[in-house]
Amino acid sequence: MNAVQSPAAPAGAHLQQIDVRCMECGARFTGDQVITRCPVCGGLLDVVIPTGRALSREAFTRDQTEPLRHSGVWRYRPLLPDLPLESIVSRREGNTPLYTDDRLTAHSGIAHGALAFKHEGHNPTASFKDRGMTVGVSHAKAAGARVLACASTGNTSASLASYAASAGLPSLVFIPDGKISGGKLAQTIAYGATVVQIAGDFDRALALLRELTGTYQIYLVNSVNPFRLEGQKTIIFEMLEQRDWRVPDVFVIPGGNLGNTAAFGKALTELLAVGLIDRVPRLVVVQAAGAAPFAGYFDSGFTSFGPVVAETVATAIKIGNPASTARARRSIEQTNGIVTTVSDAEIMDAKAAIDRVGIGCEPASAASLAGLRRLIQDGVLPAGLDAVCLLTGHVLKDTEAIIDYHLGTGAADRTGVNRPLRVAAEIPALERALADALHG
Ligand code: F0G
Repeated sequence: MNAVQSPAAPAGAHLQQIDVRCMECGARFTGDQVITRCPVCGGLLDVVIPTGRALSREAFTRDQTEPLRHSGVWRYRPLLPDLPLESIVSRREGNTPLYTDDRLTAHSGIAHGALAFKHEGHNPTASFKDRGMTVGVSHAKAAGARVLACASTGNTSASLASYAASAGLPSLVFIPDGKISGGKLAQTIAYGATVVQIAGDFDRALALLRELTGTYQIYLVNSVNPFRLEGQKTIIFEMLEQRDWRVPDVFVIPGGNLGNTAAFGKALTELLAVGLIDRVPRLVVVQAAGAAPFAGYFDSGFTSFGPVVAETVATAIKIGNPASTARARRSIEQTNGIVTTVSDAEIMDAKAAIDRVGIGCEPASAASLAGLRRLIQDGVLPAGLDAVCLLTGHVLKDTEAIIDYHLGTGAADRTGVNRPLRVAAEIPALERALADALHG
């Protein structure tokens, strides 16, 4: 493996204008430096977006240049890093729907108020990852990177494989062996990534890859990459724009490696600074009980953090040592946020409810609704609430979890179980079976 960065990056001078700063020690860098941790203190990095001038709502509709026009990420360019246009690799990501359904509002326990679902499963590779990936891969291309890499529980890898293929660049993916869904693995293979199944968990895979990137200058697109997080901010921008910039009381999101949590706090701070909003929603981060190191950290008043060995049915968020913990803490502090946990059973029941009304999502996504319901039930949040839940991935991302819920062991005890009927291939048998199923 001899993947070195091109010495003469095509857009080096352009990237030098981008300000990057360490969130821990304040050291300053520029966008032509391909780094994902501070070379001085090891801290996480932020791309600094100039917010000195007020922005109007029209700022995001005025710029109609290709390839920005159709992208729900690049439309928000005034609040994104100024990458050279010729480097942008876009698949018309974003532009995702905001759904409402009275049955789910009732399920959440909201008695008066409103609940909407921002569905990021409607992205090109069917998860929110595409929003960050278009910015990460575009930056990589501008910086002259030769090989792009990530460790992943499946969605980042599918997204990277697709965007790297679009850019004509090779991608390398480390996944925890046997622990990601078949659909995500299939996407990653199909888009042509080099896939390495690590005999360990996600946290180990990411640690190994970060070690390698130090030596081989592989371009890392995990959410420790400050450019990737910039794209994920647009979930907040688009959600608020869809609501005519009416800020909800809470924005409820699943928490794994905590890239979204980190990005959303930054997005809200920037919107406040440019005057597009005058208050922020409380960020509510929901972790699976078996993979909840950030919830433990929150419960300690952010005084003691301990990684865990993660275990949950929601494999996307099966993460025991989140890489963006420090940035996520900042977001929770900035928004008077809450971090909570839900059981695997609560996640799967919330998922079944979301699926059953025709919306559908993957298990990790449903942690948002499950967490909202728990917090209202426990009286932490009031029943009169204007809430938005984030759905992070499409229902087809994890079909194994669906089959297991409806047909597997324990299915008989669950509500809403929907078993296919087995019927002999003849009309009388069909009539009997359907009479029972549809009217019985
Ligand atoms: N939901 C889904 C569907 C995810 O794939 C992930 C993360 C999360 C939620 C958590 O988001 O890390 O920003 O807190 N998936 C990563 C991956 C880790 O590799 O695909 P986060």
